[in-house]
Amino acid sequence: MARILVLHGPNLNLLGIREPEHYGTLRLSEIDRQISDLAGKEGVAVEIFQSNSEGALVDRIQQALGKFDALVINPAAYTHTSIAIRDAILSVGIPTIEVHLSNIHSREAFRRTSLISDVVVGQVSGFGPQSYLLGFLGAIEYLRGPVQIRKGRKKGEGK
Ligand code: DQA
Repeated sequence: MARILVLHGPNLNLLGIREPEHYGTLRLSEIDRQISDLAGKEGVAVEIFQSNSEGALVDRIQQALGKFDALVINPAAYTHTSIAIRDAILSVGIPTIEVHLSNIHSREAFRRTSLISDVVVGQVSGFGPQSYLLGFLGAIEYLRGPVQIRKGRKKGEGK
């Protein structure tokens, strides 16, 4: 069974209360419940961890070595500042999906830079709590095998 570790960074424990115009009104516990339900439906094992501390997140990424097949991470503000989290992801070499509730590319300029975006499989940003579910499904699909994108055919072209 595939094992996926979901990591939430700083201030995400205040979801539901915190800046609802950016992050919605759902609490983190409800998002975690939805992730666990999805894991159950898809037949994968999931563990979820939140910390406000950069070091604790680095520790969990390191401890994931040999225990998890993929990471889904919302590093929150550390997205824009943490070389340590980037290095930890590179060190363990576990395929990682980056998620953000808000669209970090449509907000303040400093949020447009992610220090992990070039070392992750992909980024899901801007779909609210759904970003986690889409990112989680992305991790599962990635583990199941290469994504085959069929090119659209123009009218009149053969099969
Ligand atoms: C966030 C975006 C970050 O810029 C911000 O610091 C967060 C949350 C998001 O999920 O949209 O704390 O990662």
